[in-house]
Amino acid sequence: MGHRAAIVGAGHTRFGALPQTPRELLRQAIDGAVASVDRGFDRRRIGAAYLATLGFGGWQIGNASALVAEEAGTPGVPTLRVENACASGGFALHEAVRAVESGNVELALVVGLEKMTDVSSARRRYWLGVSGETEWERQAGLTFAGVYGLIAARYLARYGVDRTALAEVAVKNHANGALNPNAHFQKPVSREAALGAPRVADPLGLYDCCPVSDGAAALLIAAPEAARPYTDSPVYVEGLGAASDALAVQERPEPTRFEATRAAGDRAFRSAGLERSAISFAELHDCFTIAELLALEDLGFADRGAAGPMTLGGATRRDGAFPVNPDGGLKAKGHPIGATGVAQAYEVFLQLRGAAGARQLPRAERALTHNVGGAGATAAVTIFSAG
Ligand code: COA
Repeated sequence: MGHRAAIVGAGHTRFGALPQTPRELLRQAIDGAVASVDRGFDRRRIGAAYLATLGFGGWQIGNASALVAEEAGTPGVPTLRVENACASGGFALHEAVRAVESGNVELALVVGLEKMTDVSSARRRYWLGVSGETEWERQAGLTFAGVYGLIAARYLARYGVDRTALAEVAVKNHANGALNPNAHFQKPVSREAALGAPRVADPLGLYDCCPVSDGAAALLIAAPEAARPYTDSPVYVEGLGAASDALAVQERPEPTRFEATRAAGDRAFRSAGLERSAISFAELHDCFTIAELLALEDLGFADRGAAGPMTLGGATRRDGAFPVNPDGGLKAKGHPIGATGVAQAYEVFLQLRGAAGARQLPRAERALTHNVGGAGATAAVTIFSAG
């Protein structure tokens, strides 16, 4: 239906257990985005800035967005923090697109940030847990791994799929992460290792879980007609869709379907005026391996119960018919909560410009990102095309 906005610059720190402070990560991601603009960048043209974060481990849980203006060198620009748990980045990107669509802002800056590794595991469990439902889930001692473990058990039983389908997601995403110099884990993992790893929350083992990561990512978003002075190869935003569902999984009719993802996906495709077949590859929210299978089905890329066989058949590998998570996904690239949705768009920016190096996909014309908050409570889907 036409271009809604254009990404003209993108930056990404290394993800992992990092020595930098949150401020240093912010600055590094913003500087990377600025450096990637081909020409004519002037920070005085930034009219709005958004910070996606859950609160970086407790470092700055209030009024944090002002740090973006400070580190970007744009005092006077209005800044806003967006917090929708792990979907913060996807929702912040949507806000930036709407800001440039309004005509009031020529350039918008979106930064996602989290600093998770420097708190004790007990505090981290609490801090991550606050994004889950409290009355039924947290009070009962459930972690996110626990909730997704229950969903995975139900999915495997319902569709007669076994754990090899989950392991295949881990093997694929670790293989992709091995080609990504920014990834938390850059080592391939064998199927045997994935299947034999210690259980975290049955049936999920260590390699079915995303890690706890630090990191930041940043995007510079322009109105489509304002993009060319900055670059000859903008990446256009074609469609946005977002939705929310009950916070508690038990309040939903079927835990193996994320209605928020389905609704967000339908809206994004409608707003882009595109069919599923137009998408060359996707960045899906694989916080746990089961989540990648659910997303393939909820977004309409696979029939119910068919994402496992599709994955085992190799379709979602980098050389498959529909590559998923070429950057390693949350599983191997890492999952610094607020940074994740922004980092997914960073990968799209590279792939659609043919700049993804060793992991460049042969066909990258249109892409979809899918970012989930909690166990399916919020979802943001974005569709992009090459300039
Ligand atoms: N995948 C692969 N390897 C992992 C890993 C993961 N998710 N997490 C840790 N490792 C590796 C570490 O690199 C380390 O390897 P080494 O011994 O070679 O150095 C080893 O496993 C032990 O690491 P450690 O940090 O002690 O693991 P842990 O048992 O404390 O934590 C999890 C493992 C899975 C519990 C933790 O990563 C986790 O909680 N993940 C989920 C985070 C989450 O819920 N995010 C929100 C999602 S909605």
